[in-house]
Amino acid sequence: MSTSNNDFFVIKALEDGVNVIGLTRGTDTRFHHSEKLDRGEVMIAQFTEHTSAVKVRGKATIQTSHGEMKNDAE
Ligand code: TRP
Repeated sequence: MSTSNNDFFVIKALEDGVNVIGLTRGTDTRFHHSEKLDRGEVMIAQFTEHTSAVKVRGKATIQTSHGEMKNDAE
């Protein structure tokens, strides 16, 4: 499967222990990678052939081509 989206998204951790979880593309949707970010750390990533969705757990600022949002969840 090919994707034509080359956009990057940016996640900046606003607290220690923010998790960025990549979910697999295709019929089987499962976690395939979990990246832990500490406060002030930034992750720049793309959606890929392997990754169709991303779950962010913890306080973070998330920038995508659709806009910017702050995940304030406690
Ligand atoms: N190996 C993964 C991939 O190519 C790396 C990756 C890309 C990833 N985007 C991600 C991991 C987002 C977690 C979240 O798909």
